Amino acid sequence: MAIMEKEHEMKGDTEKPEYSPELTDNVIAATGPKAHPRLKQIMPSLVQHLHAICREVDLTVAELMMGVELINECGRKSTDKRNETLLLSDILGIESLADEITSKLLLSGTSTSDATPSAVLGPFYRADAPLLPNGSSIVSPQTGWYEQAKPLLANVSGRVLSKTTGKPIPDAIVDVWLAGPNGLYEQQDDEQPDMNLRGRFRTDALGRYEIVCLRPTPYPVPLDGPAGRLLGLLDRHPYRPAHIHFIVGAEGYRRLVTQIFDEEDGHVKDDAVFATKDELLVKFERREGDERARWSLVYDFTLGEA
Ligand code: BEZ
Ligand code: FE
Repeated sequence: MAIMEKEHEMKGDTEKPEYSPELTDNVIAATGPKAHPRLKQIMPSLVQHLHAICREVDLTVAELMMGVELINECGRKSTDKRNETLLLSDILGIESLADEITSKLLLSGTSTSDATPSAVLGPFYRADAPLLPNGSSIVSPQTGWYEQAKPLLANVSGRVLSKTTGKPIPDAIVDVWLAGPNGLYEQQDDEQPDMNLRGRFRTDALGRYEIVCLRPTPYPVPLDGPAGRLLGLLDRHPYRPAHIHFIVGAEGYRRLVTQIFDEEDGHVKDDAVFATKDELLVKFERREGDERARWSLVYDFTLGEA
């Protein structure tokens, strides 16, 4: 990608031209009265900001075409197993920002201080993971790397609590997924059976859940596409800190989409998709004398009322 365009080299130190200011107003004014109300709110702002960027950086036609090609390529690379356009928004911090806005709007008028914070869903969630009894392992021994992964086996347990009353919530569903120690989710990895490292757990009468999984491993976001290429052009690293994803839901409560992050990981302050939050950092403790789990973590989720 030729980043410096001929037009910019030629421009040198000459004074910045003025670009027709009425163009922006004309585009905004072209919206008709029957347009959807929320679009009527979003589109003028989008046009205003996009035009401002073009004027500010003196965007050339060749540069516009590079941006168009980047988005086209994201579309071509996306499948039902991979969402490259979402990945592009992730490395630009947009999913993280939309996630913060959504949770603050949903919680407006109520105190957010005691609820577990949300974090981005990311592109690797799959619905319909198997519903398993508490205490089950989601790590299949049929996995190519199972023997090497044994030192990472971890028992993760805790309770699901109501933000308002602090009481445990029975029958909540804790949906969990994580990448393998090779940094790949099962749908990216031929060495893992279908739905490996995924499961749903129902809390018991005391609001408790218990999962055997792995202490998570940091991994790079997929680099073999346009989002990865952009990271390279920006001289950025692609790593996500070691994390476990959760969706926690219960009747009468707001669904929580979140992640917990291993506080010992070197990338917790430097996530390629800007999703970490201090309240979501956790410490895995060594567990002695249990072959099924060498690490243990106790973590409670607190849900706000719907
Ligand atoms: C993930 O954690 O699975 C993820 C989130 C955003 C972009 C890429 C991966
Ligand atoms: Fe992830």
